[in-house]
Amino acid sequence: MNTTTLTRTSTALRLVDVHKSYVNGPDAVFALRSVSLEIAPGTFTAVMGPSGSGKSTLLHCAAGLDSPTRGNVVVGDVTHAGMSADELTRFRRDHVGFVFQSYNLLDHLTVAENIALPLLLAGRRPDPQWQAELVTAVGLEGKEHRLPGELSGGQAQRVAIARALVSRPTVVFADEPTGALDSHTGAQILSLLRETQQRLGQTLVVVTHDAVVASVADRVLFLRDGCFVGHLDGATPAEITARLGELRS
Ligand SMILES: Nc1ncnc2c1ncn2[C@@H]1O[C@H](COP(=O)(O)OP(=O)(O)OP(=O)(O)O)[C@@H](O)[C@H]1O
Ligand SMILES: [Mg+2]
Repeated sequence: MNTTTLTRTSTALRLVDVHKSYVNGPDAVFALRSVSLEIAPGTFTAVMGPSGSGKSTLLHCAAGLDSPTRGNVVVGDVTHAGMSADELTRFRRDHVGFVFQSYNLLDHLTVAENIALPLLLAGRRPDPQWQAELVTAVGLEGKEHRLPGELSGGQAQRVAIARALVSRPTVVFADEPTGALDSHTGAQILSLLRETQQRLGQTLVVVTHDAVVASVADRVLFLRDGCFVGHLDGATPAEITARLGELRS
């Protein structure tokens, strides 16, 4: 086997028989049931499904923000199932980026400091050239010294995207990144994510309820009741909406 073949068969993210249940009083909620899937490096994947189908749980378990009850998660060549809380923290800093619907910026830090934070927390020295490139890529030139309170929602989400990319992670995860924005700003943030994903060859996994957002992805994964129930490649918004309709019925 030559190296080209090895590269082609490698995966950025692999879930093997992942289960996640939550204890809810006397009951258990089975949020993920035996999910197995693979995501190729450099691709843009959307995750869709009805509310409560396990999309956020899937992202949290894949990104090491939460641990599966059972099964394996492999990011790049690192298996993080079974890690301790400290090991998971280090794993997240080194291997994943996360964009939340609510931005999650630190209010007392400037735009530049928020972007560099994952590197500083990991004891790594920020590369000024890479940071400047990212600030330009997300359209925040001249706003490096502003505080989050002086930014619009769209600008705050641009900071969060640059922060997710700064450590050159194996996978960037985003949970409804345009959900808190008006449709025009949401569309701008979506094109920004798509352009930077393609330019940097960044593997990107985005949870969304929006068929137009999902239609920009290379592949759409569908969840129902915690199960992975299939995918569509290069689908139109109409095809995605039709599949979602079937899942809800
Ligand atoms: N911390 C928790 N404790 C108990 N149950 C939880 C917890 N987090 C999620 N759940 C349950 O797990 C299931 C999946 O939730 P999840 O948040 O992953 O769904 P989702 O597909 O992201 O939904 P939405 O589209 O509304 O964001 C739901 O039944 C939810 O109530
Ligand atoms: Mg969710």
